Amino acid sequence: MALWRFLCRDSRGYPEYIAKTLQPGYCGPIVFAAAGASAQYDSRTMILLTRRADFAASHYYWVDAWTPEENERAFGKCSNRHGHGHNYTLEVTVAGEVDATSGFVIDLKTLKDIIEREVLQAYDHRHLNLEVPEFENVLPTTENVAIAIWNRIAPALKGAKLHRVRVYEMADLFADYYGEA
Ligand code: NI
Repeated sequence: MALWRFLCRDSRGYPEYIAKTLQPGYCGPIVFAAAGASAQYDSRTMILLTRRADFAASHYYWVDAWTPEENERAFGKCSNRHGHGHNYTLEVTVAGEVDATSGFVIDLKTLKDIIEREVLQAYDHRHLNLEVPEFENVLPTTENVAIAIWNRIAPALKGAKLHRVRVYEMADLFADYYGEA
């Protein structure tokens, strides 16, 4: 996140600086809501909206081409093939225009249903290596889980665009995926 300062004019036409926080790489329109002036929302107003969900799942890390010693050295306890569990937190951020009538980027129930149907039903209380097809030959690391969730959600979204998938494996470890560059 980068904090930018823009020179604008307030409602009386006087110059003023407005600080905005922008995502890296963001290149859409920048909309200002100047102090003292009513916010101007129109059909080109882009905004980011995030929905959070939790799930619990098991996994282990193991590369078949490596010896047990190499796996142990690379992955430590995570190489135990009986697996271990995590309480994951998922954040799905969509980008889109604010609908002039509803004020929504996307219907919140629709987004919740997509996360529930496409991700939670497949991942929650599952063993990722053994029960989720995309991890049959791909290690279910935090990074790969974020990519896999993107690939599940993106095709199901209508109207709004998937902007970011963030997956926390634990409170101090998360991966962000913004889709193919
Ligand atoms: Ni783990």
